[in-house]
Parts: sequence; C-alpha cells; structure tokens
Amino acid sequence: MHTKVFRITDPLVAVTELREAAAVLRKGGLVVFPTETVYGLGGNGLSADAAERIYAAKGRPSNNPLIIHVHHPAEADKYAHTGELYRRLAAAFMPGPLTVVLPKRDLVPYATTGGLDTVAVRCPDHPIAQALLKECDFPVAAPSANLSGKPSPTVAEHVIADLSGRVDVIIDGGESDIGLESTIVKLDRDQNGEYLTLLRPGAITTDALTCVCERVVIAPAVLEQLKDGERPLSPGMMYKHYAPTIPLVLLDGTPEDVLAFLQKEQAEKSCAILCYLEEIPHLKAQNLFPVGEKNDLTTQAHCLFSLLREADKTGSSVMYAHLPPPDGLGLALYNRMIRAAAHTIQKV
Ligand code: TXA
Ligand code: MG
Repeated sequence: MHTKVFRITDPLVAVTELREAAAVLRKGGLVVFPTETVYGLGGNGLSADAAERIYAAKGRPSNNPLIIHVHHPAEADKYAHTGELYRRLAAAFMPGPLTVVLPKRDLVPYATTGGLDTVAVRCPDHPIAQALLKECDFPVAAPSANLSGKPSPTVAEHVIADLSGRVDVIIDGGESDIGLESTIVKLDRDQNGEYLTLLRPGAITTDALTCVCERVVIAPAVLEQLKDGERPLSPGMMYKHYAPTIPLVLLDGTPEDVLAFLQKEQAEKSCAILCYLEEIPHLKAQNLFPVGEKNDLTTQAHCLFSLLREADKTGSSVMYAHLPPPDGLGLALYNRMIRAAAHTIQKV
C-alpha cells in the first residue's frame, strides 16, 4: 500500500488535506494523526472492518480494545451511556489527555471494544486532531500509532518507521506535547456511591482526578506485575509494552549510589544510559541520553519514548534508567518504564 504523508503546521490552511484524510476514514481507510499525547492510528470507530484493519496494521491482538476519539465531549452520549460524573470530568479535563471508559451503546461494534460492553472515549486537545475529527461524522477509533510492542510514537518519523506501507495517510504535525498516552479511568459504583478506577496513569494525575471525584482507586496492574493467569481491568495492561530490544534495567537508590553504579558500569561494559541533565558532567558522553533535569518530570515524559527508541539503536549490551517516583506525573512514567523494563528493577 502506498502511504501518503501530509505535513501540516496550521490546520486552518490545510483544509484540503484534512478533508481528504476524513474521506479516507469514511471509506474505511487508515489515517495516522497527531494528538497532544502520542500519535494515533485512526479508523472509523463504527466500522468493524476498520477495527480489523487497525489491528492488522499494528500487529495487535484484536481482544485489546480501541479508544474512540470525538470532536466534542458531549458526543460521547451518542456512543456510550454517560452521566453526571462523566460531565464533571469532561468539564474539568476535556478536550485533553483523559480517556473515560463507559457502558457502550449498540452502534459501537464489539470489534472496536475488543468484545467488551464498555467503550473508551477521548476528546483530544490538539488543533490537527480537533480539525480532523470535526470533518468526521463518526468517532475515530485510534490506538497509539506504533507497531505492537514498540514505544508509542511522539514524532511522525517514528510512525513512518513503524507503519509506512501499512496505512493510507500519515499526518505529520510535529512533536507530541505530552509524550505519554492519556490517563484512562473507568466510572464505577458501589454501596458508598460513585468512584473512579485508574486503569492507566497519564498527564491528568490522581490528585487532579480527586478534585472531581473524591474516591480514585488505582487498578493493581498500574503499579505491579500481575500474577500468571490474573486478568487486568484494562486488557492493554496484559501485554509487554514499549519494549526496547536492549534489556532495560531501572535503578533504585540514592542519587549518589546510582551515579557511582553508572560510573562503574561505564568503565566495565557498553551501556546506554537515560540520565538526568545534572549527571552529564560526571559520566562519559558515549551513549548518554539526557531525559531532563531530575525534578522536571514534564520534560522526562515528553522525551521518554523518543529516547527509548534512540538508545535502542546503540547496540549496547544493557540500557539503564532511573526508577521514577510513583506519584504525580511520575506515576505515569513509572507505569510505562516498569513495562519497558519487563519489571527489572535493580537496587543499588
Ligand atoms: O493518548 C492516548 O490514549 C492515545 C492517543 C492516540 O489517543 N491512544 C492510546 O491507545 O494510547 P492504545 O490503544 O494504545 O491504548 C488504549 C488502552 C489499551 O491499554 C486498552 O486495553 C485500553 O486503553 N482500553 C480501551 N478500551 C477499553 C475498555 N473499554 N475498557 C478497559 N480498557 C480499555
Ligand atoms: Mg498503545
């Protein structure tokens, strides 16, 4: 398949390209588009055929459900059973990096939801995603636009490397701002009332969610490795994710101990290191990938996936990174990094 690449900087002047992309989606084709979190691999969310094509292009198991993207948060009512808590979340965080899992309506095919009776809805806050969705009179189902098992793409070059020849159109809209996928919550209820289950942490932090709903329960798969045979609430948590080919080891220790360990390792073997900016003067420059300052989690989130791809090209025998603190935005980094490292944490 020939893949067209549209480079768009201003969606207001790229009306022709965006109409063409929407027409491709309407006919059942696949369009990769930028969002503020990561790039998405889009297809018509109401078409089982389009869902099958998405799974095939990504090489992803078809029991791993897709998120549907809408132009306006109120559109969720057409595809899902919403309610007061959904509206409060939408008012606080949409458009933005939040995905809400709701009971689905019949018109959303089971192919899109991986056989589940729920559907995940997100309204992205990116001018190109917004302009594309506005041209579509259907929701756009879109997983991250990487081959299954690779880090999510945050620039069009990653998408082209993974999906060229497997999709109809790639819209290059520059770098994704946030760099990690959206926060996913499920709305739940028990005898004490409504609460949120956090299925995947992201830029909308647990503290921010707590401002809208007092009770936020973190799903076990967010922080820990599930035991054999245990099923996660979010099927995506089952799979090894974002895996570099070089084994990634996360280092847990005081800043001094981690630095001393890295210096010793650099002297003994070829290693790629995702380090803090402050550590650069104390380490050999070769195969060093600075993720940002120690306390700048926003920059670390923005750079992580890109640097994992870069570090993976070094051919080193091992890759090291710091274990992030599992709170605030650090929880999202922690969640992605323990998966990329297949839960390999070394105490130093
Ligand atoms: O930021 C994002 O969310 C990006 C951009 C493109 O919007 N999309 C994204 O999609 O990360 P994906 O497919 O790579 O990850 C979606 C996750 C998967 O882990 C999937 O299992 C989970 O959402 N998910 C989707 N629908 C669900 C549902 N009904 N119930 C529970 N989990 C669901
Ligand atoms: Mg993904």
